[in-house]
Amino acid sequence: MCGIFAITSNKRNNIGEILVECAEKLTYRGYDTVGIATVYKNRIHLRKDKGKFNEVAEKLRLNEMRGSKGIAQLRWATFGAPSKINAQPHLDCDEDLCAAHNGNILNFLPLREQYTEEGHTVRSMNDGEICVHAVERYFDQTGDLLEAIRSGCGDLKGDYAFAVMHRDDDKIYAVKMGSSLFAGIGVGETCVSSDLPSILPVTREIINIHDGEMVILSPQSLEIRRIADGEPIERKPYTSDADIRVAQKGGYPHFMLKEIHEQVSATRTLFSAIREPYISQFVETLVKAERVFYVACGSSYHATVVGSYYLNDLANIAAIPVIGGQFNSLYGESIGENDVVICVSQSGETKDVIDVVHHAKTRKAKILSVVNVLGSTLTHLSDLYLPMGSGFEISVPATKTYTSQVTLFNFLATKAGERKGILTPKTAESLISELKTQLPSLIDETISTTTLKARALAPYLSKYSHFYVLGHGLTHGVALEGALKIKEVCYIVADGMYSSEFKHGPLSIVDEGYPIIFTIAPNDAEHIVNHLAEVECRGARIIATGEDHPLLRHYVKNDDFLVVPPSSQYLSPILQAIPLQLIAYHLATYKNIDPDYPRNISKTLTVR
Ligand code: F6R
Repeated sequence: MCGIFAITSNKRNNIGEILVECAEKLTYRGYDTVGIATVYKNRIHLRKDKGKFNEVAEKLRLNEMRGSKGIAQLRWATFGAPSKINAQPHLDCDEDLCAAHNGNILNFLPLREQYTEEGHTVRSMNDGEICVHAVERYFDQTGDLLEAIRSGCGDLKGDYAFAVMHRDDDKIYAVKMGSSLFAGIGVGETCVSSDLPSILPVTREIINIHDGEMVILSPQSLEIRRIADGEPIERKPYTSDADIRVAQKGGYPHFMLKEIHEQVSATRTLFSAIREPYISQFVETLVKAERVFYVACGSSYHATVVGSYYLNDLANIAAIPVIGGQFNSLYGESIGENDVVICVSQSGETKDVIDVVHHAKTRKAKILSVVNVLGSTLTHLSDLYLPMGSGFEISVPATKTYTSQVTLFNFLATKAGERKGILTPKTAESLISELKTQLPSLIDETISTTTLKARALAPYLSKYSHFYVLGHGLTHGVALEGALKIKEVCYIVADGMYSSEFKHGPLSIVDEGYPIIFTIAPNDAEHIVNHLAEVECRGARIIATGEDHPLLRHYVKNDDFLVVPPSSQYLSPILQAIPLQLIAYHLATYKNIDPDYPRNISKTLTVR
């Protein structure tokens, strides 16, 4: 949610150009409002409005903004409607200071009242504005901006990061208190951002900023200090080898389609990203645990549902998949030092997951995690993490990171099964070899063989405002994930369910021609046949993903059968998600919805 990018430079006068180039790469974090503030001739110039980045940037000619330092913000609205007045950055009362934030200031309303009583002019209903007034409040007393920022942070409650600048110098200050922040050191310029891709046009020399730290940017240097006591912190930059081309569409009409295709390479890069001894340490911690919990949200949660089936089947380990926001109220009191919590997150910033980590740590549980964005909050908080190595995922709906997560869970369960003697080394080797050598080409083949059918279904499915996606056993998580993709990018209420549950009520919704999508693992065709029969005899139109099977052919017409290539059943949660992603993608574009930026949502949710 929300993205900030700020830069100070001694080699640019038209700072708007680089602000636009870099901030555009944060579009996936929020597209309710956009704003840029620059300092030019000791005055703050501010342009902002409601709308998506490219529209606002063009309308307000943001790239023409002059000056040598500036702050850009892209907002995903929580406090305050998406409107020009609530757009960030915000000015202080006398327009000397300007700030923009990412995250939430939870005591925004009482502070707004307090500051207003003290004489501040708070113009908006957006919690981000309170950051600039919190700083101003102390700056007016002391004239020391660094100290004012430290004191201002003491007023603010919540998880946030903000950047603030004064019109009279060349510095920008940024703080990290729970939301992500990365700093970059270029030649004659330094910058900060909520995420790495936006820094790469400036530099590859990166410093990860940690919670409770502030960074002071000047064109020539960058300084980190602890907010609590102002003490300086030494940290060396590292050189990012991230591929910037990943943040471009590369000939595809949308990032979502590009990332669906990138699943072929993502399953390869995963295995070069994970390393020994971390894999063995991860597996060892897992097999020794009294209880294992998988904790995640959204698509990552659906991947953990599949992961739990793998651990049961391959390693006889009961792993409980839990939605992040639910964990503390379901298991918070019983969690203890013999338990392992495996947190799974693409962004590594999801607040519902981070809250679990904070709580579980107080109970001395071990925190393992699987994360895509390195340097994210989750990587700092975990006892041990494994990277997903998927590269940047720009499109808001997760696709390739779901696939990398499921692939990794398959691999870890196989390793755990071998470690426990449940799988022979030979079986484990053959399962792992299938993942490493066959999976990428099977994904490629699945995309080629199912694309046309997925696209052809769009006119029919678009006539419905609701339908079901049903899975069974290993494909339960696939059904949940396919339904989420359709809801998210097509604005259709697709409900993902366990197929045996359907007869316990929802069956009553079926009438002539009603769409039901089944996703069927190879060894489940015989179990699921009565689920197919009970909807078919009531007139449902069955669409299915699965391996070819005579039983399924009986219930599913050729055009509605999105056949995936034969493989072991353990690959089916990966392969079968792909036709569902393609159905969602083509249905969205048929409905003229931009699947990369579905309305109302953000890729990184740093609020509870
Ligand atoms: C859906 C989607 C979201 C995320 C969820 C968790 O396509 O992308 O449901 O999966 O917000 O995000 P991470 O994995 O970053 O914790």
